[in-house]
Formats: sequence, structure tokens, C-alpha cells
Amino acid sequence: MRRVYLDNNATTPVLPEVFEAMRPYFADNFGNASSIHHHGQETRAAVESARESVADLLGCRASEIIFTSGGTESDNLAIAGLVTAGDHIMTSTVEHHAVLHTCQHLAESGCEVTYVTVDGRGLVDPEAVRRALRPNTKLISIMMANNETGVLQPVDEIGRIAAEAGVIFHTDAVQAAGKVPTHVEKIGCRALSISGHKMHAPQGVGALYVKKGTRLQPLFYGGRHERSRRAGTENVPGIVALGKSAGLARVGLERGDAGKLADLRDRLEQGILAQVDEAYANGGGERRVPNTTNIRFDHIEGEALVIALDLKGLAVSTGAACSSGAIEPSHVLLAMGLPPEQARASVRFSLGKQTTEEDINFALSVVPEAVARLRAISPRYTKQIVNT
Ligand SMILES: Cc1ncc(COP(=O)(O)O)c(C=O)c1O
Repeated sequence: MRRVYLDNNATTPVLPEVFEAMRPYFADNFGNASSIHHHGQETRAAVESARESVADLLGCRASEIIFTSGGTESDNLAIAGLVTAGDHIMTSTVEHHAVLHTCQHLAESGCEVTYVTVDGRGLVDPEAVRRALRPNTKLISIMMANNETGVLQPVDEIGRIAAEAGVIFHTDAVQAAGKVPTHVEKIGCRALSISGHKMHAPQGVGALYVKKGTRLQPLFYGGRHERSRRAGTENVPGIVALGKSAGLARVGLERGDAGKLADLRDRLEQGILAQVDEAYANGGGERRVPNTTNIRFDHIEGEALVIALDLKGLAVSTGAACSSGAIEPSHVLLAMGLPPEQARASVRFSLGKQTTEEDINFALSVVPEAVARLRAISPRYTKQIVNT
């Protein structure tokens, strides 16, 4: 059975070049990067070379990169590590739970938190950020690209407002890194999170940029790894892979790969919207990362469509979270003003570096039919009856 994977915002396959780069660090070059003997020196050099590569992608110094276990840890470290009780934090209603739940926890531990809302396009208004500033605002954390819609926030403007106010700006760039330029000086952020498995490195590795001179409280205590900012023996194969994927991402961006990916995504989106009536792109028409489209198919359950498409060989997803057996509509789409039933009718298609023209043709050949079939059995869909 043919299988096409269009769920790259959930995770991406490790690219063959990335896998080859990390392979020696499992068995041949297995040293602990803190050891002073040959084996340690070898892996230390590999870790530092990966740090340079990640720094190149982000346009910062290597010493400003901290390797972590992934996007969640990077977000936790950035937020919990930069504030103390009594500080005010500003974030948005469409952040990933790695940010939202960290802020929720800090609110219970004596911080004040403001959740800036978004408009129907999924955008934060930078002026709303300015208006929400307080004398004790320490940190603004607004994501660069949304994981469900791909919509890009006006981070440069928010960065300028934060700098003028003397507030630290952190951006979760987990879904942006490798897809659009992520230069920290241009964004004006003092902290930025990335994750390996969203950019064709493996799961379980990530990085946090923290600008030199920014005081950061570690989350873990132990050895003096990562300049005492993140204790724990480094995940050398993962770090090497992240370095390699960052290098490939930089070359790809310079080569204009993002434009090709956007063409494929647009062909998919336009093809679906042309073939399926009462289908709409959530956040469509906005500045988005080139690989993502989120489409609402009225009168059906997104979850049912995901299952129907999986049976046909196409992997996509909803932004919905399944908690205690009940499917909750995406908090992102609700924040954009969609009623729960429209949020539940939405499905995300996310492409990767490996996605081909044929993959898109395949998706276009199965989606309209699957939607039609679900609508035919949906009590909410009356169009056919009205028309006949
Ligand atoms: C925007 C965003 N932030 C953070 C994360 C968490 O990253 P990780 O899975 O590496 O912990 C994700 C993962 O889906 C994400 O999409």
C-alpha cells in the first residue's frame, strides 16, 4: 500500500545525510564529551562543531547556544529560567502547550501572566503587546510560526517593542527554523527555541539561544555542562544530527527551497479548495511557513477524516488534543474565533523536505473523495438533499 506522510509538523523523518553524520557517534566515537582523553576530545569537537552550525543558522555566537532535549525543554528553560516570582510574563493564546503550561505553572508560583489574544487570521497585534506592558514585565514569549496553521507572527515588531521597553523577548521558533530565516538580531529576541525532530534531525534533541549577558536560571542541577546552563551528559549523536540538519537547512534556505515547498503546499491547498465545496484554509492568505496548510471541511469531524485518510495511506492530523477520551477542539482555532464545530472540522497538512509532486497528486486524489464520503453519512450535511 502506498503511504504518503503529510504530518511533518508532528515530526519529520531523519534525512539520510543527517543519519550518516550521527551514525559514528553511537558506537565508534562513543566518548563522553566531558572526558579529557581521546574519546572525549573527539566527541567534544563534534559537539562544538554542531554548536557552530546551529549558531550559523540563527545568526548568533556558538557560546549563546545551549543544547537541550527538544523544543519543550527549550521553552521551559527560556521561560522558567528568565523570570522569578513577582515578574509579569506576556504570551499569546495560540502558543504551544510547552509555553502555555509553563506560564500556567509560573502563574501558580507567583508570576503574573497576560495572554494576548489573536484576530481571525491568527495574528497577535504588536500594539496590543505594547499596551499590555507593565512596570514589572520581564518576559514576552510569542511564537514565530504556529504549529497548527503555520501563520507567522510579526516577531520583528514585537522584538522592537520589547527592546524599547527593556523586556526580554523569547520566541518559540520550533516550527519556523529551517523553513524561514531565523536570525536572532533581525527578530530582536534575547531567547529562541528550536527542536531537532521538526527539522529532519531525530526526536529528543533541541537548542535554546540565549543572548550573551542574559541571566538564566537552570532547570536541572548536576554537572557544569553547557556552561552550567543545562546539566546532563550531552546527547552527542542527537547534537551532531541537529548540527548537520541546521547546516542543510541554511543551505536549503539560501538555495530557495522554501519557494519550491510553498509551491507544492499551494498546489495542494488550491487543489483541495477547488475540488471540495465548503472548505476553507484557516489562516490562508497570511504570511505562513511554506510547508503548512490547515483546512476546515465543514459538516465533518476532522478526526474522522484523519482516520479515513490513514486507511487510504495518507497521514495528516488535527490540532485536537485527546484528553480523557474526549476530543477537544484546537485551542489555536478557537482563539482565532472559530466555533468548536468548525475547529473540530479542521485538518492540518504539513509537508517536509522529502515531499514530492507525486505525494501531492496522491493527496489530491484521496482527500475530496474521503470528504464526500464522510459528508454523505453526516447528519449535519444537508446540501445534497437540498440540491436534489
Ligand atoms: C511550536 C512548538 N513548540 C514546541 C514544541 C515542542 O517540541 P518537542 O516536541 O521537541 O518537545 C512543538 C512540537 O510540536 C511545537 O510545534
